[in-house]
Amino acid sequence: MSRYAWRTNFCGIVCTMTSNKPVLVSGIKPTGDLHLGNYFGAMRQQVELTKSGKYRPFIFVADYHALNTMQDATEMRRRTRELVMGYLAAGLDPEQVVLFKQSDVPAHTELCWIFDAITTMPYLMRAHAYKDAEAKNKEIGVGSFNYPMLMAADILLYDASVVPVGADQKQHIEYARDTAEKFNRIFKDEVFILPEPYIMPEVAIVPGTDGRKMSKSYGNVVPLFASRDELARRVMSIVTDSSSARPENVYAIHKLVRSTAELDALYAEHAGNYKMLKEFLIEDLDRYLAPMRAKYEMLKEDSSLVDTVLARGREEARAVSEAKMSRVRRAIGVA
Ligand code: ADP
Ligand code: TRP
Repeated sequence: MSRYAWRTNFCGIVCTMTSNKPVLVSGIKPTGDLHLGNYFGAMRQQVELTKSGKYRPFIFVADYHALNTMQDATEMRRRTRELVMGYLAAGLDPEQVVLFKQSDVPAHTELCWIFDAITTMPYLMRAHAYKDAEAKNKEIGVGSFNYPMLMAADILLYDASVVPVGADQKQHIEYARDTAEKFNRIFKDEVFILPEPYIMPEVAIVPGTDGRKMSKSYGNVVPLFASRDELARRVMSIVTDSSSARPENVYAIHKLVRSTAELDALYAEHAGNYKMLKEFLIEDLDRYLAPMRAKYEMLKEDSSLVDTVLARGREEARAVSEAKMSRVRRAIGVA
């Protein structure tokens, strides 16, 4: 859809408050350039489920989660806008989704506080992220320690039944489920429903250029909006093991964009010729990503759509979450 069509069609968001479709909630932190792991592991499912029309989708920029690691105002502002542009370029239709910034909706942090009051430290100490930090003898911030409770608030506020994410987020969804149950039990009121993770098994863990999970913290990513030259550089840096005929790390990324039947034939025909196989991968990735990259570039030239989308998202997310908070406040006895 052209930028012009986006504008003229953007005549008012689907009225989510009156819909009784199951709710989808997901968020991504604006902490780095989007990469193939983010897209294939989470964003593509979010876009497809939104397009299916079967859900009421709420998708947000998890800026208060990002604050735990990214403490630079200019970078926060820039990356927040880039993430919204990234979502739009990846195919999210602003008419079908409530797209907003977490920090624009105060109910997230308010509910997080209420969850803190019913949560114990030993329970939070079981989180993978906390255990990793402890194992490495790293000091962990209070916000990072409490990450699962803010995430539970993000999800439970909207009565989400599905949460499309990559496999690394599974434990967080379990925290949200436990917290919903605990709250309902303590306050003897079925205020929250239990969310389910939506994780696609074949892309649950997208591998990076070194074969480990693709992650910005490992420096092994293929950026989603990379130029062709940049794609070529990243693909050429894929680690290969000369002892096998098939370069597994190349194949694993290749099968994100081409069927395994086609790839098996191609890899058999060029067995051992790693350079050529990488060139095929560059070609296929470039073809797959070019339309998204073009949309992203277009949005970057004029990013006013970002402001419109976020302003609408803020209003709608506030209305829905405030209604839920009234119920929560009554349940705990502060209203
Ligand atoms: P990163 O690991 O690069 O910091 P994030 O934690 O910001 O990425 O992840 C944002 C979303 O993308 C989450 O839903 C996460 O599960 C998903 N995701 C990130 N990397 C991968 C991957 N390599 N495979 C599958 N999903 C991923
Ligand atoms: N923790 C998620 C990540 O690291 C981001 C996130 C925050 C999220 N709140 C959420 C994802 C709620 C799904 C639902 O990627």
